Amino acid sequence: MANTAFQPRVFSGIQPSGGLTLGNYLGALKRFADMQNEGNFETIYCMVDLHAITVWQDPADLKRKTRELCAGFIASGVDPEKSILFNQSQVPEHAQLAWIFNTVARMGWMNRMTQFKDKAGKNRENASLGLFAYPSLMAADILIYHATHVPVGEDQKQHLELTRDIAAKFNHDYGVDFFPMTEPVIEGAATRVMSLRDGSKKMSKSDPSDMSRINLTDDADAIAAKLRKARTDPDALPSEVDGLAERPEARNLVNIYAAFADMTVEQVLADVGGKQFSEFKPMLAELAVAQLSPISAEMSRLMQDQEEIDKILRRGAERAREITEPILAKTYDIVGLVR
Ligand code: TRP
Repeated sequence: MANTAFQPRVFSGIQPSGGLTLGNYLGALKRFADMQNEGNFETIYCMVDLHAITVWQDPADLKRKTRELCAGFIASGVDPEKSILFNQSQVPEHAQLAWIFNTVARMGWMNRMTQFKDKAGKNRENASLGLFAYPSLMAADILIYHATHVPVGEDQKQHLELTRDIAAKFNHDYGVDFFPMTEPVIEGAATRVMSLRDGSKKMSKSDPSDMSRINLTDDADAIAAKLRKARTDPDALPSEVDGLAERPEARNLVNIYAAFADMTVEQVLADVGGKQFSEFKPMLAELAVAQLSPISAEMSRLMQDQEEIDKILRRGAERAREITEPILAKTYDIVGLVR
């Protein structure tokens, strides 16, 4: 079915399972805010707490991280008036549609999911049933809104394919054109932020070295120090993109600069080609501090007002349910559930 029948709607989710890094900001939050502001889509953003608990979460930590993630969304420019911003557990239709999808998705499809294999590791027998069903809940997150576009990282591509397979099988089995074929919007290489210690690894909140990442809660001194100490090679910066080919650390810093300066990598290199890192790193630090310190300041301000955050989440869930309730009711009807 042509997606033109569905109104342009963006959905994306982030797990409230760890602190936010520069990688989350440039790869997800900033893009989410941009998509909200472009005005081509209705935008819906979710803290996927039900996904987080597919692996063990300390309850008090989970609450704190959910609120911190909400503060991170808002501080990054996601406006809870313009976008719908909420936590997944408070919109029960996600879990309800996921159950229907558990009856649509095939064991064989789920067995092929590489993220499950990675997360379950060697000890698959001991993984939770929820971890196995994770992609079915993710399909429900997306399709309970009839979302047409989902901005995600490269690593989520397979889950988006599964979402389309579930939608197609549901439509086919029940003889309807009810769920759209949702398109992933994959992040560009320039927004994939790598570790400051190893340019071949993604910047991650789980890396044991705090020097490998910039946290959205880092203050100006910490940001500047981490960028100053970032690993690089001894050569000067190239003037052409080709010159970054075998230099992952150099490329990462140039990508970060380009994202902050709102320039292309070509433009950045035209300006800084020939400079040594000793000169480039302070320029990058200045730019990073200027853009990130208002975000960390706003996050800590919001974190001091828990009631305000909870109010925003409750209001977001109410607005979300205006969309999800009729779609779930229609789904139940299609499936033959009497009400
Ligand atoms: N699985 C996604 C991740 O780990 C998070 C997620 C859950 C998600 N539901 C979603 C992303 C729906 C996009 C749309 O990044």
